Amino acid sequence: MKLRSAPLEDWLRDYYFTAEIDISSSGVHSYSMAELRALTGIEHSEIDALVFDDGYSLGTPEVRQAIARRWGDGDPGKIMTTVGSGEAISLVLTALLRPGDEVVVVQPGYHSLIELAVGLECTTRVWRLDFEQEWRPQLDELADLVTERTRAVIVNFPQNPTGVSVTEAQMREIAGHAERVGAYLLWDGAFSDLVYDNPPLPDISTIYSRGIGFNTFSKAFGLPGLRFGWCLGPADVLADCVRIRDYTTLHTAPLVELLALGVLKNADAFLEPRLKQARANREIVREWAAATPEHVSVVLPAGGVAAFPRLNGHTDTYAFCEDLFQRRGVLVIPGSCFGAPQHVRLGFGGPTDQLVDGLERMTDELAKQGDGR
Ligand SMILES: Cc1ncc(COP(=O)(O)O)c(C=O)c1O
Repeated sequence: MKLRSAPLEDWLRDYYFTAEIDISSSGVHSYSMAELRALTGIEHSEIDALVFDDGYSLGTPEVRQAIARRWGDGDPGKIMTTVGSGEAISLVLTALLRPGDEVVVVQPGYHSLIELAVGLECTTRVWRLDFEQEWRPQLDELADLVTERTRAVIVNFPQNPTGVSVTEAQMREIAGHAERVGAYLLWDGAFSDLVYDNPPLPDISTIYSRGIGFNTFSKAFGLPGLRFGWCLGPADVLADCVRIRDYTTLHTAPLVELLALGVLKNADAFLEPRLKQARANREIVREWAAATPEHVSVVLPAGGVAAFPRLNGHTDTYAFCEDLFQRRGVLVIPGSCFGAPQHVRLGFGGPTDQLVDGLERMTDELAKQGDGR
């Protein structure tokens, strides 16, 4: 596979660990182990009883059952647990795609959902989201992009980095376009449990036979360091994924799955407080945008905890993001990491005081630069 570097990861490697204020993340405020144990009731004795044997290629039966019950159609045979959803995305794309296949991808978007197909030498057809249209996906454009040669359509709604989403009716329409030509529809649902106005979308695997859903504990659940994700899809595709996995990670770590099962059994206890905080923080972003119209234009996200404002007057925000970090200790992500250089990704899922402080410092830097430095 000929992969280009992932600019988002390059940026985070340079700045994430030393940021004074991080308002860049696409996930909510992370939980600690003590909090995880308190919310799940997992005792130290249960952790001590774990023997470090090998694990199941597709995940333990209990964990797969719990995922199937909450997000799937109840059939654990359609579930594979992975090292973050990143592993699931990479396994599924590697299993399904061959050089020359046509693949529809969304831009701006998260690099794995675009670049893996490029690296696998597929022909990508870009379904572009336009800021001027408030990022709203244009379904008639998708209809033109999907052809008899389309092997897969890859989407992520609610979306990173724009926060835009679709209704369930639109989800079914997207599935209809894929079904018309027998294409797979890969749906990254990383933010499905982080929505503000509409109920969560169903997992795509429950509404389309060639639909494959990805999900993770890294975003809505506040557990990115646990590295736990999964996908839901046809058993034959999962079997092909296992054949690839036999050469890489083999299986998800039993310790991770022990903790994950506890989280799955108490999912709402993890989700609800963080969603409440995200909802309040989203209002702060709304107020900030309304108070600084000369500097930023924002479409408020329908889901997730990232907004993707355009910085007025900037053709490429990279230097601004570097200045903001160096001079004011604030981490955001340059839009170029998502193929939209006039924008920055702003994460509002963290502690409210940090968000407020970070936005104030950002406004100061914008004002300073607007004044000609
Ligand atoms: C849309 C989307 N999908 C997948 C991932 C991968 O996350 P993880 O491997 O931690 O589950 C990310 C991480 O930022 C993401 O934004």
